[in-house]
Amino acid sequence: MEALRMKGIIKDFGSTRALDQADLVVKKGEIHSLLGENGAGKTTLMKILYGMYEPNQGEIFINGNKVVINSPKEAMNLGINMVFQHFMLIPNLSVTENIILGQEETKLGVLSYKEARKKVMQLSEQLGLKVRPDMRVADIPVGEKQRVEILKALYRGADLLILDEPTAVLTPQEVKELFKVLKALKENGKTIIIITHKLKETMAVADNVTVLRNGKTQGIIAASEATPEILAQMMVGRSVILEAVKEDVNKGRVLLETKDLTLGKKLKKINLQVQQGQILGIAGVEGNGQTELLETLLGLETATSGSIYLNNTDVTQKAVKERLKIGLGFIAEDRNDRGLVNGFSIWQNSVLGYQDRYQKNGILNMQKIYVASRQIVSNYQVKVENIFSKTSSLSGGNAQKLLVGRVFYHDPEVLIIAHPTRGVDVGAIEYLHNEILQLRKKGKAILLVSADLDEVRQLSDRIAVLYEGKIVMEGNTSDFTEEALGIYMAGGDLVNREVVLS
Ligand SMILES: Nc1ncnc2c1ncn2[C@@H]1O[C@H](COP(=O)(O)OP(=O)(O)O)[C@@H](O)[C@H]1O
Ligand SMILES: [Mg+2]
Repeated sequence: MEALRMKGIIKDFGSTRALDQADLVVKKGEIHSLLGENGAGKTTLMKILYGMYEPNQGEIFINGNKVVINSPKEAMNLGINMVFQHFMLIPNLSVTENIILGQEETKLGVLSYKEARKKVMQLSEQLGLKVRPDMRVADIPVGEKQRVEILKALYRGADLLILDEPTAVLTPQEVKELFKVLKALKENGKTIIIITHKLKETMAVADNVTVLRNGKTQGIIAASEATPEILAQMMVGRSVILEAVKEDVNKGRVLLETKDLTLGKKLKKINLQVQQGQILGIAGVEGNGQTELLETLLGLETATSGSIYLNNTDVTQKAVKERLKIGLGFIAEDRNDRGLVNGFSIWQNSVLGYQDRYQKNGILNMQKIYVASRQIVSNYQVKVENIFSKTSSLSGGNAQKLLVGRVFYHDPEVLIIAHPTRGVDVGAIEYLHNEILQLRKKGKAILLVSADLDEVRQLSDRIAVLYEGKIVMEGNTSDFTEEALGIYMAGGDLVNREVVLS
């Protein structure tokens, strides 16, 4: 039985054809993965289903019946709900309040909070979606926020649940939890469409996979018959090297060094050294000081004690701008927050932070800026109409490529790279990893912080494990097994093995 059929969907945004005769068929009660490169049209296809965009052409069938969906409200009436990449919860309200928001009215008037809370808890327990109903949303971790979003959808009676890149913001443990939940939902007769770019995850959770490329459906394949290589090839249209090759590179001088770097209680006497031609990876479960380490190294936070040296210059008290001048480049943790300004056009973001290099006597050399911007867009394959477009029109992966392009183009000697491929698809990951390894080859000193352990292990020469603000272990990458890293990351030690790995 078919829960959904989308047929011949065309969607144009101005002169961009986002969807070009896309098809999608989803069976009732399955987990269906919608896979594709950045900009392939996945979100657009799902926003059409959710009534947010009107297609230029094409048909939609729900449970075999042809429908026209003009708004999310109409979608919800058809039992369709969507959880977005950026959560839409209200931070100051409680979990329960968020879940029932807009649904408080009953035939009898206002539903009592107690009743609603009970219903939320029932749903929560029935499906193993653990949430704390009275917590303020602002105070709960990302994984729980996502469960609240899912509960909110189910509270509205969703039969068909769409999740847009739900694992992008989660730790490996949270991903496992989410997949358990999705499987429980499936057992309960729900149909799930999950947009994800992670091949391993697709294969772990999905029954069937539909691959989109350039707005066209490339095919549908049973997850049991798929391999990462097959899926990657369908996504990218060519064979993809899934693991970047790391050549031997001669190491040079130490360009980045910290001595007993301390930030309040968040960072405790961090001692790191990064040489030319070396990648030092920081592994750790998020929230163990990574953000503080990054911000202190960049100059957004000032160390309480200890020092930071860039190319033998003490920069501990220096501002961000001065550090950039000395040769620091960084790819920020949150590209929306600290990386790109969404209201700016592509050309503005292309030189943001580097304006000094494009001016003379206070006058910007626009010609030079446009040249730089066009080169960044072309070298780093940013999919965009032109450099005068707004940055907000870029998909996540393309925004990331712009950010990376800006930093690499300005040729820093020392690079601090945070989560370079978060939310980025497989073709772009291959590309970004190769770019990072090229910089290593050129003798740059690179500090890599990533929540993706595979990424840290693939790229780094050395790995330091951050736990509760301390470096608990450091060594050559080849000295660590994945299991050992996991134990250190969880605060255990290898001798006592006091951490039980699930
Ligand atoms: N609101 C919009 N306005 C203009 N172009 C858009 C808009 N939304 C998406 N696009 C474009 O449509 C294409 C598909 O985007 P999207 O559906 O977000 O891809 P995906 O989710 O697969 O990364 C991209 O080229 C993107 O830039
Ligand atoms: Mg998307």
